[in-house]
Amino acid sequence: MDILTLGNELLRQKAETIRPIDATYRKIAEAMIDALHEGKGVGLAGPQVGLMKRIFVVHIDGDQPRVFINPSIIETSQDLVKYEEGCLSIPGLWADVVRPSRIRVQAWNERGRPFTLEAAGILARVILHEYDHLEGVLFIDRIPESKRNRILAKFEKMQQA
Ligand code: NI
Repeated sequence: MDILTLGNELLRQKAETIRPIDATYRKIAEAMIDALHEGKGVGLAGPQVGLMKRIFVVHIDGDQPRVFINPSIIETSQDLVKYEEGCLSIPGLWADVVRPSRIRVQAWNERGRPFTLEAAGILARVILHEYDHLEGVLFIDRIPESKRNRILAKFEKMQQA
């Protein structure tokens, strides 16, 4: 799987609900986890590999890989936290992003089984970042404009190099 980078229009489109969650999604989830490991990332969403479906995978240190299909963020904490984020689609660039510190998410796994998960810390952070990808939103949309412009300029320079 090739990972699309900033500038690709697919990263800005909303992904579609998966129905039905059939056996092909086990293979897709597996391939996405492989791509995630290869890219040394912590999360990867369908649109990042040109798959405009509501699926993402997350694998943070000390946890098992997790697959989220048709996820809903059903609760977010009032308290917010700032944390540095990067993205496999914006390689080499990071910025502080403010997000809720704790969430509750409902989704289906690659076997079509529904689950609910309460997450905090890095796991919550990555889930919110990946969920954004399903909506065509990137982390640079959630930072102050001056910072965003700096990142975009750096990214362009890196593309030309
Ligand atoms: Ni990302």
